[in-house]
Amino acid sequence: MRVVKSIKVLRKLLRKEKLSNHKIGFVPTMGSLHEGHLSLIRNCRRENEISILSIFINPKQFVKGDDFSSYPREEKKDIFLAKKENIDIIFFPTNKEMYSDGHSTVINVEKLSTVLCGKYRPGHFQGVTTVVGKLLNIIEPDTLYLGQKDAQQAIILKKMIDDLNWPVKVNICPTVREKNGLAMSSRNQYLSDNEKKEASILFRSLKEAKHTILSGQRDSKKIIQSIRNLITKNSSAKIQYIECVNADTLEKLTILKGKVMIALAVHLGRARLIDNIQIAVK
Ligand code: PAJ
Repeated sequence: MRVVKSIKVLRKLLRKEKLSNHKIGFVPTMGSLHEGHLSLIRNCRRENEISILSIFINPKQFVKGDDFSSYPREEKKDIFLAKKENIDIIFFPTNKEMYSDGHSTVINVEKLSTVLCGKYRPGHFQGVTTVVGKLLNIIEPDTLYLGQKDAQQAIILKKMIDDLNWPVKVNICPTVREKNGLAMSSRNQYLSDNEKKEASILFRSLKEAKHTILSGQRDSKKIIQSIRNLITKNSSAKIQYIECVNADTLEKLTILKGKVMIALAVHLGRARLIDNIQIAVK
């Protein structure tokens, strides 16, 4: 395994692999690796000759009030875990390597970036698309591995790749959860044991909503209200949003039909948590 900090060195290493026609898979992360990240890495390893993991806490996607300075940084542990998974290359750039002085070019995916989380974190998705765009230009992978946990991020990145004609396949991997259903996240470290227990209501309420929909309920207002009631009754979480949207276009649904996604964001203790569930509704 190589840990590479320089774009130039990384490109040189990859040129050789491309000349040998090796398939390159790429997993972008902000580190503090957990089983969710590792599942992406395992899929990547299975499907490619060369697997690259990037670890970069991208300042441009943190907005005002976010946790950039306190975001967990666990370089040694991350390298240990990545090595265990037989990653070929870890790309671990510094801020300076990624953003030269006066960096002024951004990528913005309109519309999709302004709904759901985008409404509450203006500029966040522009930071994500800009950094992932740069990483795709640097690495030129065959396949990009993303998690369903950040469903809106995955949809936006797919749209960017499509709109900008990048020859990259996108593989969206299922959300990995704790035993109690809480979606794994680097930010779960902010939760106390009790808050972790409380947070299990998020997925429980989504699963219950899915069951209600599959039993015939089609009114999104009723579904949202039932999730809201469950969360407020069973936890101290402050709900930011709960929405029923089309799982491809992220358009709000009044009547539930087709590919439905229920997405939510809450604040619990020091953490902002997101989760979602998809339901095929006839
Ligand atoms: P990060 O939060 O570190 O997540 C990296 C990748 O792991 C993302 O694709 C995310 O969806 C996936 N992931 C996180 N938790 C998961 C879980 N419980 N199950 C499955 N996959 C999970 O998302 C980012 O970093 C950044 O925005 C990034 C794309 C790296 C750009 O900076």
